[in-house]
Amino acid sequence: MSTPARVFSRVEPERVERACAELLRVLSPGQVRRDADTLAAYARDESDSGVYPPDAVVFPESTSQVSAVFKVCAAHGVPFTPCGARSGKSGGSLPLKGGVAVSLERMNRIRSISAEDLTAVVEPGVVTGDLMKAVEAVGLFYPPDPNSWEWCTLGGNVAENAGGPRALKYGVTRDYVIGLEWVLPDGEVLRVGRRTIKGVAGYDLVGLFVGSEGTLGVATEITLQLIPLPRKVMTALVVFPSVQHAARGVSAVLAAGILPRCLELIDDVALRAVDGRGFHFPPGAGSAVIIEVDGNHEDGLLAELAQLGDICAQQGATQTLVAQDDSQREKLWAARRSISPALRAVKPHKISEDIVVPRSRIPEIIERLKAMGAELGLTVATYGHAGDGNLHANILYEGPHQRALVEEALRRMLVMTVELGGTITGEHGVGHAKREYLPLEQQPALISLQRRLKTFFDPSGLLNPEKIFPAPERS
Ligand code: LAC
Ligand code: ZN
Repeated sequence: MSTPARVFSRVEPERVERACAELLRVLSPGQVRRDADTLAAYARDESDSGVYPPDAVVFPESTSQVSAVFKVCAAHGVPFTPCGARSGKSGGSLPLKGGVAVSLERMNRIRSISAEDLTAVVEPGVVTGDLMKAVEAVGLFYPPDPNSWEWCTLGGNVAENAGGPRALKYGVTRDYVIGLEWVLPDGEVLRVGRRTIKGVAGYDLVGLFVGSEGTLGVATEITLQLIPLPRKVMTALVVFPSVQHAARGVSAVLAAGILPRCLELIDDVALRAVDGRGFHFPPGAGSAVIIEVDGNHEDGLLAELAQLGDICAQQGATQTLVAQDDSQREKLWAARRSISPALRAVKPHKISEDIVVPRSRIPEIIERLKAMGAELGLTVATYGHAGDGNLHANILYEGPHQRALVEEALRRMLVMTVELGGTITGEHGVGHAKREYLPLEQQPALISLQRRLKTFFDPSGLLNPEKIFPAPERS
């Protein structure tokens, strides 16, 4: 629905047939699927960046099976692309050239949780929310909370270095991954990183592999560090007359010497899109900010929320509504989580970005995005993790006839972001959807160095081709 599907040359059918015959020697028939429904399901993700069916989907159940699949694909010259729940927002798991989609979904065991070491060891197909609940049951906390946590997988979170609202206080996936079992594109299995919290031996390959968007190999086991679960969490909805007021409120909160765990902005368009769908904003609300604080003492948290409410009032906030119990908190968060789907109902099409600007520039970028929308005659909705400068800026539009205009708006948005000292992607990755925009942010020498790294790890280029870097003729 957003980026028009680009056409890539597909792998020759004879290669696929030969590879599939051999895959059936290392996997059982139920682990190799080629039926139309399965191929259709694995042809898309949440990026709206095109439909690219694989020729086969395989479901390995062990590290040695993942390794064997990679070796078979490499031997037959067939592209192979790892995937999980396909919740990705940048097309990172789309098999652009066909070939084999390697689903890690069946490797979904939590292998261990250690309250003494404050670690967990998981397989890549574990759903993020399942791990959250399992560690919380023993008083521990896994903070990274991508919006899709109820169904995305930790392997995908590792591939994309996913973040979410709690990144403001607690950081992103990379901050929690301390060790990986990693299958390289040629099928070799390595253990990288460690099981300890500290450790500086050798290069930081964990740091490189986390966020490599499925282009350097795949995790078959992930060791995560955990932290103690804060005993109290309090959430408030602060209502502002306009998004400009709300943006100034966010800046004022950040300067107040209290670090909330979440500071989420909802602009006028997003607010109207979710209002009345299970949650009602107070009359007159033009924009809102969700503030969430955590700690161990309720009194302290209430005092913090009161102080932050006062600070917001000085910036024009009309009300601060504190959720009274977990069910009210959940209603607020459900409203926040539904923004992305609700915006789809506003106009038939949308492009959703995840730009980040230095936090001091939030009011400015919001102002400039709205002005751009007005100038081009497009609706721009801005919401998201304003506390860390990471905004989901969406361009809503009517249909393909506006495509050129939308491309212009998108380019202007990303140029503006980089001009303000920001980055084109804070949490969804470059993948397929944003590869042509990487040069806006990174110098040719840096892109060239990263291409050489890719070639070093994957000389054949068969693993997850055509991702992150611009098509060669355009770089
Ligand atoms: C969110 C997704 C889009 O925060 O990242 O809603
Ligand atoms: Zn987000």
